Amino acid sequence: MKKKNIILIGFMGCGKSTVGKKLANALNYQFLDTDAMIEESCGKLISKIFEEDGEAAFRQAETSVLQKLKEEANRSVISTGGGMPLKEENARYMHEIGTVFFLEAEIETILERLQNDTQRPLAAGEDREQRLKKLYAERLPVYRAVADSCIDTEGKSFYRIIQEIEQDMEDGCDERKEGGKK
Ligand code: S3P
Repeated sequence: MKKKNIILIGFMGCGKSTVGKKLANALNYQFLDTDAMIEESCGKLISKIFEEDGEAAFRQAETSVLQKLKEEANRSVISTGGGMPLKEENARYMHEIGTVFFLEAEIETILERLQNDTQRPLAAGEDREQRLKKLYAERLPVYRAVADSCIDTEGKSFYRIIQEIEQDMEDGCDERKEGGKK
């Protein structure tokens, strides 16, 4: 029997935090955000971690957070950083923690949302658009493969997205995938 947690994965700007908070509220679950947990444990912003310690240190911190969540999380909606599912080890932990939902949004929507972003190191600097498009194309198949369920968020209200996640949970989407029938 899976633990009662919901894990949201997807590209930067796909709405993981906003959907996560509303979903946690609707289910009366706790809301957790892996980026916020890392910032708290390192005592600095993600942008500073990238700048001062390097991306590899941040990726290691992501795995440590998942190890902690594996022990401690229950009845939680967990929003994860966009790069989290890329490491196989992380993907494995996620499935031990709960049911994994991919919030899918189109690259044009994401680029528009990240237009004025100053917080995300990977969305900063020159050739931003080109780099994000490339990263998106590389990651899309990984998100789809890791997720128990993919939610197309394009043009949908938060209310509708949450309803779809709740419905999928009721339908046992994680067990379907484990049974290989998806
Ligand atoms: C990252 C996404 C960010 C954050 C970090 C790296 C990524 O989180 O973890 O800047 O590699 O896509 P969000 O997806 O919440 O923006």
